[in-house]
Amino acid sequence: MKVAIIGQGYVGLTISAFAGQCHEVVGFDSNAQIVEQLNRGVSHIEGVSSMVIEGLVKSKTYRATSNPADISDCEIIVIAVPTPLTVDRKPDLSFIDAACKTIAQNVAKAALIINESTSFPGTLRGYIKPSIEKYSGSELQHMYSISPERVDPGRFEYNQKNTPRLYSGLTLEASEKTREFYSSFCDELVEVSSPEVAEAAKLFENTFRQVNIALVNEFAQITNSLGISVYETLDAASTKPYGFMKFTPSAGVGGHCIPVDPTYLAAVAEEHGAPATFIRLANEVNLEMSKYIVSRVVLDNGGSLKGKSVLVVGVAYKPNVADVRETAAELVIEHLRSQGAVVSWHDEVVGNWKGESSAPLHGADISVVVTKHDSVDEKMILASAPYVFDTTGKVKGARGL
Ligand SMILES: NC(=O)c1ccc[n+]([C@@H]2O[C@H](COP(=O)([O-])OP(=O)(O)OC[C@H]3O[C@@H](n4cnc5c(N)ncnc54)[C@H](O)[C@@H]3O)[C@@H](O)[C@H]2O)c1
Repeated sequence: MKVAIIGQGYVGLTISAFAGQCHEVVGFDSNAQIVEQLNRGVSHIEGVSSMVIEGLVKSKTYRATSNPADISDCEIIVIAVPTPLTVDRKPDLSFIDAACKTIAQNVAKAALIINESTSFPGTLRGYIKPSIEKYSGSELQHMYSISPERVDPGRFEYNQKNTPRLYSGLTLEASEKTREFYSSFCDELVEVSSPEVAEAAKLFENTFRQVNIALVNEFAQITNSLGISVYETLDAASTKPYGFMKFTPSAGVGGHCIPVDPTYLAAVAEEHGAPATFIRLANEVNLEMSKYIVSRVVLDNGGSLKGKSVLVVGVAYKPNVADVRETAAELVIEHLRSQGAVVSWHDEVVGNWKGESSAPLHGADISVVVTKHDSVDEKMILASAPYVFDTTGKVKGARGL
């Protein structure tokens, strides 16, 4: 099959790498720099090796492009563009809208359009299909389906092949063709009765994590007030073989999914007059965690951080990735600076961020560990400052949650 994948970021490039093994893939991205890099065989995404991309480019089963005309003869179009929040924290479908326009104005024959971008239930039926029809003047009768992406960057044991894939088409024919496409590189396909179920399932998976992370973050504050270890208590609770799932405390949630997706669910709940109390509360607790951490550091350091050099260790939103989207480190740094601290950060996986570069891992008055990459030595963290506060539970001997 000839497949176009709109968006060559974390999701789109990962699918391209798998689909390119068995189909002819055109990776369409509006960012010309990414396109040029990919056509040289250089991957910009952890988990997708440059060797794989180079191999696909050489074998001519994959090429990246910024020219929308290149998708004209594709029979399958996968949408994998960002679905962020607007400044007032509402679902922002502007990237989906732009992708719909590109598809409508360039795809020249009836195709199967699959949405992999995360969005609220009803997006495929009530937004994507009408948008494409609006922009194309309904000249072609496309098929539509949804298959929400579940990839977790940096997790190697689960990938596109062995992570079960949910899907549902707007028609039986769309469902069948979607199954045919994904079964060429995915072991387990799970069909659900409507696109809305698939869309809601994806949002609930991430909301489940958001709420449980908030719960354990609150629990860490309770155990600290009781003078007991949150980690020992969680290990003790984890000995129960059923009905318990361990989550660990942190500086907050980050990345493109956990801080964003639940808000999509809350927005649709609001629209339908249903409650989203847990979602809103969990969001609040997770956002407040950075303030709590800084208050603990202030308390341990004589009540003031004025003029003290503070090194934030790890600014990526999670270990072993360079992704800083929605990272909790941003709020931690903001609160430290508002307390008068002179803040720098160390993260060689990220390298450069917000016009600043990674600082050396030594010589600070205080170090606050937000993310611990495997490549960062525990002993070096401990030696980086006379006082080290660890929010990850991975630096033994440091103060922590
Ligand atoms: N990153 C994850 O771990 C993850 C996991 C599951 C689902 N998702 C969802 O997948 C979707 C994509 O996320 P991502 O992490 O891959 O985003 P990303 O920012 O890594 O990549 C998106 C790419 O799309 C390109 N793009 C934007 N608008 C475009 C347009 N109109 N036409 C062509 N290209 C365009 C951008 O240049 C970028 O390269 C989002 O809905 C996200 O919520 C992400």
